[in-house]
Amino acid sequence: MNFSYWKNYFISNASHFEDVDWNQKDILSPDEKRIITTSLQQFQKGEQSEGKHFYSFAKTFPDPRYAETIRLFIREEQTHAYVLGKFMDMNGIARIKKHWVDNIFRWLRKLTDLENTVTVLITAEIIAKIYYKALRNATGSRILQQLCDQILKDEEQHISFQSNTLNLFYTKKSRIRKFFNRFCHQVLMVGTICIVWVDHQRVLKTGGYSFSSFFMETMLVFLEAEKLIQKQIKMEFAFSGN
Ligand SMILES: [Fe+2]
Ligand SMILES: [Fe+2]
Repeated sequence: MNFSYWKNYFISNASHFEDVDWNQKDILSPDEKRIITTSLQQFQKGEQSEGKHFYSFAKTFPDPRYAETIRLFIREEQTHAYVLGKFMDMNGIARIKKHWVDNIFRWLRKLTDLENTVTVLITAEIIAKIYYKALRNATGSRILQQLCDQILKDEEQHISFQSNTLNLFYTKKSRIRKFFNRFCHQVLMVGTICIVWVDHQRVLKTGGYSFSSFFMETMLVFLEAEKLIQKQIKMEFAFSGN
């Protein structure tokens, strides 16, 4: 895993929202607001995490540069929460403190170890890759569109980053463990797709998705990530962290 690459990536991407013009006149219409409010509240809450458990799990990784990269990654996710929150404030949308889906995901992330945390996290990031596309299509707000465009770029990188990490765990497993772990991730992915559809279908439908197109597109992103996770790398290079 190329730690220097990811560390430099997160450092160079830190100013990614600087060109958003927050002063432009750009307020959601009552219709848009009705469609996206509860959904945006949940995603903004989901992006917001101090990442304490993730960071402490990351410190168990053999190479200390990984924990440093995770610190930068957490900062990037917090920026997503910050800009979405700022947009909500501008539009009189209240921030929420809790949501049951977010609570479940937080509980799952803390459950066992680093591999589990990254697996749960990448599942949410795969969903984000489709959700923010739908949200972008569902709004005429230039600011929200710009935020979605940047978050989509960021989440694509996050999926590659988490896949690279999971690949390190994958290559060390027995065949049975490999199969079991990938099967569990698939179950988690399918379950998450169904829950997200139930909770966010107004945005997803307005953004042009039916359940089947949402399911198919999300599973395609999932399969792309799985390819990276299951990529065969010679073991002597796997933990080299060049
Ligand atoms: Fe994010
Ligand atoms: Fe992310």
